[in-house]
Amino acid sequence: MTPDFRSDTVTKPDDAMRAAMAAAPVGDDVYGDDPSVNALEERVAQMLGKPAGLFVTSGTQSNLIAILGHCRRGEEFLSGERYHSMKDEAGGAAVLGSVVPQTLPVADDGSISEDSVRAAIKPDDVHLPISRLLCLENTVSGRVQSKRNLDSLTSIAREHGLKTHLDGARLMNAVVSSDVSASDYAAGFNSVSLCISKGLGAPVGSVLVGDEDFIKAGRRLRKMLGGGMRQAGVIAAACDYALSYNIERLADDHLRASGVARRLSEIDEVHVSLNEVETNMVYLQLPDDVAPGLKAFLAERGMTISPPCPKFRLVMHKDITDAASDSLVEGIADFMAQCRS
Ligand SMILES: Cc1ncc(COP(=O)(O)O)c(C=O)c1O
Repeated sequence: MTPDFRSDTVTKPDDAMRAAMAAAPVGDDVYGDDPSVNALEERVAQMLGKPAGLFVTSGTQSNLIAILGHCRRGEEFLSGERYHSMKDEAGGAAVLGSVVPQTLPVADDGSISEDSVRAAIKPDDVHLPISRLLCLENTVSGRVQSKRNLDSLTSIAREHGLKTHLDGARLMNAVVSSDVSASDYAAGFNSVSLCISKGLGAPVGSVLVGDEDFIKAGRRLRKMLGGGMRQAGVIAAACDYALSYNIERLADDHLRASGVARRLSEIDEVHVSLNEVETNMVYLQLPDDVAPGLKAFLAERGMTISPPCPKFRLVMHKDITDAASDSLVEGIADFMAQCRS
């Protein structure tokens, strides 16, 4: 397998996961008849301490269903200016739900301050949209968000009558890297989305959890969005396998990321902030005159990375071995040596 450092979404199902998929009992999930989907929804709801779950096609669909479920037309959702639900979901909430986006400033560590949430919540005034939902994220660009801050932000939201949603696409990375359980992180939120197709290694699938009424309404929204799947147990089984076998191994990705960061930081002119590496992502900065050449240089050696934005993001995951991460560090060292020779 050629090493691909662009994202943890690139992992491929291994033989054991494929065997679990092949063996899955299935039914028509739109009729509620798929036992593998039903079991997965219950399992994730329980893990996150919520009454009910909904298996959806993607993290984007999960966040969209949450926003459409919590907000009516003309109401607004507040979210971080660089959070996925605000910036990377094609404006779905505004396009499909007429829900007004209100951005909040995000600090380098991915957090949002209490003051910004307080300042953004609108008073009851006919000129203004109604603030309805606070949408947070954990992890944010690989940074673990403190439970204390998440709890204060959600209580401010609650005091003002807002609902709260957590985009926990990589929540299990936060769980593995901290001593906080998934249900503790989820406790202050009305709804949480967990992706199983990122570091957890399933090929498809996210689960949205919340209370029974919210999930019942979410089921209708999922159908409306074209996300009602039929014998989806085949992919639910992959997700179930991932939850059984791939959570604890996230610690290997985190360890590999910190090792890569430490070794890269020893190369002249390569800038990596070691304290920013809290889970599986390493952010790397090279001098402007050489940065544009790195991607093609590594591609020649069979390695794939994303272009800088403005830093390079290098992501460790299940399909990155020690040998692959060694080749990456060597490749970057050789690239810098060649640029400066
Ligand atoms: C934080 C976060 N939320 C949501 C998503 C959306 O997930 P999907 O690609 O499954 O739609 C992503 C995707 O990378 C993400 O990084």
